[in-house]
Amino acid sequence: MVDQVAESPVSQNIVRADGRVTGADRAANLGHESRTVWFTGLSGSGKSTLAFAVEEALVKKGIATYVLDGDNVRFGLNRDLGFAPEDRTENIRRIGEVCRLFQDAGFVVLTAFVSPYLADRQAVRDLHPKGAFLEVFVDTPLAVCEQRDVKGLYARARAGEIPEFTGISAPYEAPLAAEIRVDTTLPIDECVDLVIAALEL
Ligand code: ADX
Repeated sequence: MVDQVAESPVSQNIVRADGRVTGADRAANLGHESRTVWFTGLSGSGKSTLAFAVEEALVKKGIATYVLDGDNVRFGLNRDLGFAPEDRTENIRRIGEVCRLFQDAGFVVLTAFVSPYLADRQAVRDLHPKGAFLEVFVDTPLAVCEQRDVKGLYARARAGEIPEFTGISAPYEAPLAAEIRVDTTLPIDECVDLVIAALEL
């Protein structure tokens, strides 16, 4: 495992235990390298759709993969978190740790979270060995997300019914150097191919 920089603020007298099998050993057993592929973008940008389509393509190639999706994770692991800035940061911190575990287990883990803060995404990147984390900017303009409004949330946010809604009343900090940028006006198959090619598995 990569040594984590931060010490636990609450647990003392803990010592890291390491087995003899490395992440690379586990990945080799599965027959491919492991990665965290982090999709970020506005609500309704198409992150989940794309992540699930990439998952399907990877499974067809025999690759061990799993999708962690924002809404789904908020039903379980992160059910105690809302959308205030500190809750979003904690949401991404926990998911980042889960990703690192999956990646160390040899998987290609895909995530679909708005993850609006640059610093939070950078912290997840820093948990990973170099090259094992790829950021995918699902670059759908706000106007398009709002026009689609698949979940009806933008209309409610505009009406003042949902506070701190990303893009409307809460910020989204776009990636400055994502490994992959996806233009979702392209057909989904082309977007999937672009991501798969960039993974270099
Ligand atoms: S994040 O900001 O903490 O990364 P996350 O991806 O887990 O967000 O959840 C975003 C999803 O929650 C959106 O796709 C949307 O369906 C829903 N949601 C509900 N309230 C909000 C809000 N205030 N801002 C953004 N998304 C919201």
